[in-house]
Amino acid sequence: MKLAVPTETRPGERRVAVVPEVAGRMVGAGIEVAVQSGAGAAAHFPDGAYLDKGATVADLTSVLEGADVVVRVQAPTPEEVRRCGEGTTLVSFLQPASQLPVVRGLLAQKATAFSLDLLPRISRAQSMDALSSQATVSGYLAALAAAQRLPKFFPMFMTAAGTVPPAKVLVLGAGVAGLQAIATARRLGAQVRAYDVRAAAKEEVQSLGAAFVELGLETQEGSGGYAREQSQEFLARQRELIGNEVAASDVVITTAAVPGRKAPLLVTTAMVERMAEGSVVVDMAADGGGNVELTEPGADVEHNGVTVHGMANPPSGLPTHASFLYARNVFNFLSLIVAEGELRPDFDDEVVAGCCVVRAGEVVHAETAQLLAEESP
Ligand SMILES: NC(=O)c1ccc[n+]([C@@H]2O[C@H](COP(=O)([O-])OP(=O)(O)OC[C@H]3O[C@@H](n4cnc5c(N)ncnc54)[C@H](O)[C@@H]3O)[C@@H](O)[C@H]2O)c1
Repeated sequence: MKLAVPTETRPGERRVAVVPEVAGRMVGAGIEVAVQSGAGAAAHFPDGAYLDKGATVADLTSVLEGADVVVRVQAPTPEEVRRCGEGTTLVSFLQPASQLPVVRGLLAQKATAFSLDLLPRISRAQSMDALSSQATVSGYLAALAAAQRLPKFFPMFMTAAGTVPPAKVLVLGAGVAGLQAIATARRLGAQVRAYDVRAAAKEEVQSLGAAFVELGLETQEGSGGYAREQSQEFLARQRELIGNEVAASDVVITTAAVPGRKAPLLVTTAMVERMAEGSVVVDMAADGGGNVELTEPGADVEHNGVTVHGMANPPSGLPTHASFLYARNVFNFLSLIVAEGELRPDFDDEVVAGCCVVRAGEVVHAETAQLLAEESP
């Protein structure tokens, strides 16, 4: 079985789907690993490191030639799908609902595609959960991005010149990324408060030494470990109640994403205008439309002396470890669909079936099938 690792082509993407250490494990499992020359360069994995682990390094055409499996971080473009051979299997983040032209390309190529963002969140699949591993990176970087922009210390300092109070950090959304942002801000010495719509979040927040903000709103649960979309009425009440918390914070970090949907609006411009001069808002959901009204993905917006930082593709900002964790997730997923060096996915396995979007040229993901049907004349 041949596995291809192309260079990521989305602008600003620095990750690579397979790192040399994992390439070595794959080779050890009887898989032929072909890496596009330079694929790991932006994540600081030179071609030589792959060669040392028994992978081959070549140009894209040779890498794709005869490949049974193509492994990527981001979804391929329709053109990149066309370059793969017929019947190829793809493993990547695909977010099929927003990538219908790519899905159509996969159908035309009679491909099979597994989208890691659809992986069922059951205990057995935790080691393959790439959304969680990348969210860990994003949360860590969100706290650092805030600390760097804040014109104040995060920790309390008692010096001969006087005492400096700790920064007040508010984290909205305490999922995997939010909890990591809380842990990182706490390690830097900030005073942290956090809020999430899920009932379980309170205990998780408190276990990290942060205070949970009680808004008196009903809790909201998603399904399968994924967050649920809230009603506009709920979000309006939430914004009204969280306003004083936002105004009293030096830093607000928002991490509330709802997979496959536009991110909910948590912080309006009027709320930012109540924050003190020099305060910082970091919006980790910038790529999904943003939790903050003023957000511009990839930019720092100054408004009334407040900096609003819209994080674009956050995990790409820590490419070495983000790639390392992603590659491990991919390897663990491959161990489900490869047996004795051959591709043998068991579609009766709920993990395999749950993240399969296209199987041998047929759409098997219900939501994607419906979206495609709605698009057809
Ligand atoms: N069992 C597993 O294998 C597994 C794996 C990963 C995650 N999970 C669970 O799923 C949870 C969420 O995962 P995630 O981090 O991928 O979530 P996510 O990235 O989809 O969302 C981030 C967080 O934002 C919250 N949120 C959404 N709308 C909000 C709003 N209006 N106001 C405040 N918060 C809002 C969500 O509840 C979630 O906690 C985790 O905390 C965990 O409990 C389970």
